[in-house]
Amino acid sequence: MKTKIFIFGACLMLLACGNKSSNPQPTSQANPPPAAIDDASIIKSQYPPLAFDKVASLKSLADFPIGMEVAAGDEERSIFKKTDQQPVLQWHFNSLVAGVIMKMRHLHPEENRFTFDQADELVSYAEQNNMLMHGHTLIWHWDSEIPDFMKTYSGDWKTMLDQHVYEIVSHYKGRVKSWDVVNEAIEETSPTTSDYRPSIFYKALGKTYIENAFITARQADPNAELYYNDYNLEYNHSKLAFTLSMVDDFIKRKIPIDGIGFQMHTQLDYPSVVDIKAAFSKAAARNLKVKITELDIAVNFTNAPSLNASTALAQKNRYKEIVKAYLEAVPPAQRGGITFWGLVDGETWMRSFYNRLEWPLVFNDDYSVKPAYYGVAEALSGK
Ligand code: XIL
Repeated sequence: MKTKIFIFGACLMLLACGNKSSNPQPTSQANPPPAAIDDASIIKSQYPPLAFDKVASLKSLADFPIGMEVAAGDEERSIFKKTDQQPVLQWHFNSLVAGVIMKMRHLHPEENRFTFDQADELVSYAEQNNMLMHGHTLIWHWDSEIPDFMKTYSGDWKTMLDQHVYEIVSHYKGRVKSWDVVNEAIEETSPTTSDYRPSIFYKALGKTYIENAFITARQADPNAELYYNDYNLEYNHSKLAFTLSMVDDFIKRKIPIDGIGFQMHTQLDYPSVVDIKAAFSKAAARNLKVKITELDIAVNFTNAPSLNASTALAQKNRYKEIVKAYLEAVPPAQRGGITFWGLVDGETWMRSFYNRLEWPLVFNDDYSVKPAYYGVAEALSGK
């Protein structure tokens, strides 16, 4: 980058020299033009990597929940093992979601056995620290997260799934504020078409497994907010349209649903912020809550060995424009919140998912802030 700026600067000087003949300039070298400021210097002076508690708390800048995905229980990166993460969570976030331990197979490993201990510990931690809990997720197609007994289930699927949802939601009644009731039930079948995903739940019950889950969740905790959650809604027009037509049908038939979750595992330069904002607006037009549930921004499409300054600045601007789009498109009363999918870059799920280095989050591994933090903070403060 520095080289580019140098070449750019040299060209400017050449141009200036070229002008000399027609437009005489002083020949003195006493006042050379100021050196171009490189990106690393911009970061140093404007967006320095300060300690997490030397910058404004993100939650203090928003009047809606600011959430973080965490590991807990016996996971390697559990916040109960890596306890130095806890002060960061407490400073910046007022909502938590478990990345893994509240998924189906963790809470319901066998047909007649539910295991709540690890999730209970996390929910208690959230309560003790005045944080909301978002439950993720009651029904998800992801093979490794489906309880083994379900994979070979031959009994009454409706009764079994109703019990699954009821047991879990009623166990956390009044303690888990909101749930991703069903996650990723819709998929793109071509670039321009979408349909229900042919998961084992769909194969057993057709699309009714989705509404059944919402109805049962409402019965189990009438005050919990119930979300449908999915990815790519911000750019795949057919997937968004399919999802919204399902939601409209729920509303028409009085199937309980309170919100739409946009995962927002997104990228530095795609899709356009215009598309993202339009998608948020379409969802908000349903008068439901709209929540960014899993925000992170992939940047490393060239397999770079480290995050360079210009990419870090571009990521800062991208975070800013996404948060701004959310604020502009979603009326205050409908803001379910913004949740980041991971605290530090070194722990991002993207590294194993994409099998490459990635730096998609807003904190460095030592809990200092990245330029990305300033992008979020600026947008939340209306700058
Ligand atoms: C991911 C977790 O971050 C990983 O730790 C786990 O191994 C797999 O699941 N969309 C979702 C999340 O809804 O549940 C996924 O979380 C990321 C994609």
